[in-house]
Order: sequence, then structure tokens, then C-alpha cells
Amino acid sequence: MSPKWLGRCPDCGQFNTFTEEKVRRAEETTARWIFSSDDPRPLSGIDAAGAPRRPTGIAEFDRVLGGGIVAGSLVLLGGEPGVGKSTLMMQAAGRLALDGLKVLMVSGEESIQQVKLRATRLNITSDNLLILAEIAVDQIQLAVEKTKPDLLIVDSIQTLYHPEISSAPGSVSQVRECAGHLMRLGKGSNIPVFLIGHVTKEGAIAGPRLLEHMVDTVLYFDGGQGNSYRLVRAVKNRFGASNELAVFAMGDSGLVEVDNPSALFLSERPEGAAGSIVAATIEGTRPLLVELQALVTPTYLSMPRRLTSGVDHNRAMLTLAVLERRAGARLDQTDVYINIAGGVKANEPALDLPLALAVVSAGSDKPIEPDLCAFGEIGLAGEIRFVSNVEDRIKEAAKLGFTKIIMPDQKPPKKPADVKLIVAKTLQAALEQIS
Ligand code: TYD
Ligand code: MG
Repeated sequence: MSPKWLGRCPDCGQFNTFTEEKVRRAEETTARWIFSSDDPRPLSGIDAAGAPRRPTGIAEFDRVLGGGIVAGSLVLLGGEPGVGKSTLMMQAAGRLALDGLKVLMVSGEESIQQVKLRATRLNITSDNLLILAEIAVDQIQLAVEKTKPDLLIVDSIQTLYHPEISSAPGSVSQVRECAGHLMRLGKGSNIPVFLIGHVTKEGAIAGPRLLEHMVDTVLYFDGGQGNSYRLVRAVKNRFGASNELAVFAMGDSGLVEVDNPSALFLSERPEGAAGSIVAATIEGTRPLLVELQALVTPTYLSMPRRLTSGVDHNRAMLTLAVLERRAGARLDQTDVYINIAGGVKANEPALDLPLALAVVSAGSDKPIEPDLCAFGEIGLAGEIRFVSNVEDRIKEAAKLGFTKIIMPDQKPPKKPADVKLIVAKTLQAALEQIS
């Protein structure tokens, strides 16, 4: 911030990044939050049922929302262009409109004809679904006041502009101010608001990221690289578990829910390949089986290469160090590549053990039995540590036909009949199981 214009920003060193922002007087900016204008009230006298949830009817979407749409909530749906954000919102809007809810969809990117074309493709039509092509946030407010919708969808936040701010739509101040305006509008009238935001491949600067702290729920849409699978992940949720995951497939008439994502992620698993193992992970509250792959090759570099994709790089490096120091693996003359198949990302300590097993299998060129799966955190002393949701992991593995599970010493009281649980207290003990 600077009281006068500067050619070069003293913070980031870039030229021409300074934009003028009018400072508004205090009484203009103090938001009158209707929902907080009462006197303080005793906690015991507050009725929590005042914020009921409304399921959209799309079960996977409801899952990431934490059970449905909460009245007055502000949700950000981010993702790269073309991943399917408008499609998902249109499908949700269509379902809710069928249930008799009035939905106002504001499009700042597409004409109403384009929106209609998409709706036709998705087989959606309803008198309850109102479309407005508009980018001025005060006009949107007028439309909301006039039509009194049960749900407001804005596509996208980057196209909106606030007439009192001189910078262009999509700039930091516009995005922040417009989102703030819609938040007050939504909270004040108890209308849930969905904001669609574009994230570019580089991770977007003036994009949705700066809204994350402001909104109640942040959902990110991820496209499976080169395939039709779409993952929606809750990275923040004031009304439910974060890290919750929804899996869809993009078809000819919209997004279709994938009921059994584990089976999907394992469907292309190679048979008898060394370095491949199935890991039982938890995403939010959902167990998910993923295929971890490792490749170990002789290195031509003085600093051997370590490449990871889909897993947490630092955790993977820790696991490699423990493998060398506690289990006698020799990796100093080898490059190590680690990947989760299908473009899935998983970031969980329970991936340590399967990752170590995959690397050893790759290094020794010995395939791991196809019906074996694993989970467990590895400590620096080489001990296998407890993880959460053990029963769910085991159940999911059993469901998909795995018969052996290498795991920490935390057998649950009950287990599926046809699964053998192999407890390993140390990395050494676990490695003996696959040698
Ligand atoms: P869209 O929802 O417009 O993406 P976003 O709003 O995130 O930019 O959808 C983009 C892609 O999805 C587009 O390339 C066309 C494709 N698509 C389908 O494959 N099937 C469909 O039924 C629809 C509506 C879109
Ligand atoms: Mg769109």
C-alpha cells in the first residue's frame, strides 16, 4: 500500500502492478450484518436447527458439502477452466429446482443462450431456475431482492465488478469486494451463495485463493489428467469434514457419480509388475484404495534424482531415509520415482508403509502379491505407527477382494472373514513379508 502511485512495487519488485483503490469512509465499510445485529445471547438459548441442510440429491456433491447446502453459507467452487464447474452447478441447480426451490444462476461469462444450451444438454428445464447474465454486483443484488431465490449461484467471481471500485474485473480488489458484497447479501437474507472461481494451472494469484479465508466452504475441482474423471475435494469446510472427496465421470450429458472410486483407481493396475502396491488411504471420511508405483533405476547423476507425483514429497524423502538407515536399503546409486496411478493425490502418513514396500519391490524387481495391500505410518526409528480409521480401511480392502493386509499393531475387534491381517511392528518385519 502506498499513498501515491509507484511504477515499481517495493514488495514484489514488479512494474505496473500498482492499482488505485479508493479508501472508503468508515461508515460505508462497516457491514451491517443482519445475522449478528441482535444483542448477545446465551449459548443455551440458541437453536442450532436454525441452519438446516438441504441435500442437493447428488450424493457425491452432498458428501463434499458435509451433507448438503447450509442456509446462508458461502461456498467457493474453484477449478481450472473447462473442468466442469458450470456443469456441476447447473446439475445441482436443476435438481433443487425440481424439488421446488427457486435458484438464481448468474452468469458473467456466458450468454443466457449458452447457458440454455448447456441446460438442454443436461436435460434440465424448470420454471424455478432463473438465469441472469450480469456482471455488476449491485444489479445482482437487485435481482436477488426482486426474485428472492433459495439459492444464488455466481459464475464466476472473476467476472464481477463493483461500481465503486475502479480496477478491472478479476483484480484483487474487485474479487475481494464483490465476494464480500455477496457474502453480506447471502448471510443477511439467509440465502446460500455458490461462487465459481477459476484457478489457472500456475495456481492463480488474483484468483479464488484470496477468498479462501472469507468463505465457509472451499471446494476444488480437479480433472484427472487426460481422462474423464473429475475429483471434487473440500479443502475447507466449516460445516463438515475437510479433505472430503467426491468422484465424478464427465459423460455426454453431464457429470455422473462414481460409486466405487477404489475400483476405478485400481482398474488399470498392471499384473505382476514390480514396484506396484495398493495403499488403503482415507480421504476425509472415505476410505480409498490407490495404486502406488515406484521405479528405481541406476543413476547417471552425482545427486540421484528423487521425483514424486501425487504424494507428499518430503514425507516420501523421510521414508526413503528410514529405508536406508533402518532397513539397509541402498538407494545412493539409484534414481527413485514415486507416483500414484491415475493422477490421484493422497497426502497421508498411512502411505509411508506402502511407499516403502513399493520402493523395495521396485529395487529388487520382485512383484508384490496382487491381493496384498498395506497402510501404516513409519517413524524415524523404523517403527510402524498407528493410523486412524483402521476398520474402514480394512473393510474397503476386503470389499475389493484383497485378502492380505500389512498394517500397524492395531487389529480391530472385528474383521471381515476372508482377510488376513498381518501386523508389522517395524519396517524390517513388514519387508520380510514381501521378500
Ligand atoms: P464446464 O462446466 O463449462 O467447465 P467450467 O465451468 O469449469 O469451465 O464444462 C467444460 C467441459 O465439459 C467442456 O469441455 C465440455 C464438457 N462437457 C461434457 O463433456 N459433457 C457435458 O454434458 C457438458 C455439459 C460439458
Ligand atoms: Mg464455466
